[in-house]
Amino acid sequence: MVVAEVLLLMASAISMKISDGLENRSRARHMRVAEITEMIHISSLIHDDVLDDADTRRGMDSLNFTVGKKLAVLAGDFLLFRAFSAAVSLDNTEVVSLLATAVNNLVTGELMQMSITPAQRCSMDYYLQKTYYKTAALISNSCKAIAVITGQTAEIQALAYQYGRHLGIAYQLIDDILDFTGTTASLGKASLSDIHQGIVTAPILFAMEEFPELCEIVEQGFDDPSNVEIALKYLSKSQGIEKTRLLAAEHAKLAADAIDGLPESEDQVILNSRQALKDLTQKFMRRTK
Ligand code: FPP
Ligand code: MG
Ligand code: MG
Repeated sequence: MVVAEVLLLMASAISMKISDGLENRSRARHMRVAEITEMIHISSLIHDDVLDDADTRRGMDSLNFTVGKKLAVLAGDFLLFRAFSAAVSLDNTEVVSLLATAVNNLVTGELMQMSITPAQRCSMDYYLQKTYYKTAALISNSCKAIAVITGQTAEIQALAYQYGRHLGIAYQLIDDILDFTGTTASLGKASLSDIHQGIVTAPILFAMEEFPELCEIVEQGFDDPSNVEIALKYLSKSQGIEKTRLLAAEHAKLAADAIDGLPESEDQVILNSRQALKDLTQKFMRRTK
């Protein structure tokens, strides 16, 4: 997901009429929030590739593959530190606090995934909470930070947050589908990697609702490759993929609704930005990598 693109569009979608001088200053601060968010995002991916022992990222060698785990962890730490140094220079404690919440949530999501119990592995609620923390918390809190730094009302801050939250969840649900339906070549990373790592995602959880006996396999985990085979068989005869797509579409719609809830405007730039944010929800639904 191009995080900075979403944030700059959000800034433009909720912008207020101000003098040219103030507008330049405001734009510079939006850019800063977008850059900081990208740095946090990249830092989390660098750490994630270490944790997942991933050799590739976005179709290229991962940093840990190139320079080793130790240097990769330090590079991720460094980037995170630079991100927060830049955040402090914005001189807005609420924005720093929102970004800190996002990192806190990222780590919590990763911990929820690592320390999951057999019963939690079968729970859709647990999965959705973890998904919010891991994938949606950064974009939702950053969208809100954009509204905060623009001096927007609490209502607009909440709509910006809701857009990011639902967009992030929709994105992850499609990601979960692609892990089953994509190929290593089309994804730029290994396919079926979630299940091979013992990570149970929405398609399997929906399949489990149709075939409760799958829960026993999921509880056992996927260290035994024959359990992966069994789960994939159940998935293929279930509506798991289709139901996941429907849930993603619901979240994409809720994201678009948040944009529609913004106060009316006749400014063409603002309207175009809002339309682009809504188009993005559909683009995410159609993505293949
Ligand atoms: C991708 O997950 C990973 C994340 C979205 C966040 C990972 C968070 C941490 C490692 C916590 C530390 C965070 C910071 C900022 C230092 P994935 O493995 O499911 O997806 P992938 O297919 O992109 O690898
Ligand atoms: Mg990973
Ligand atoms: Mg991971």
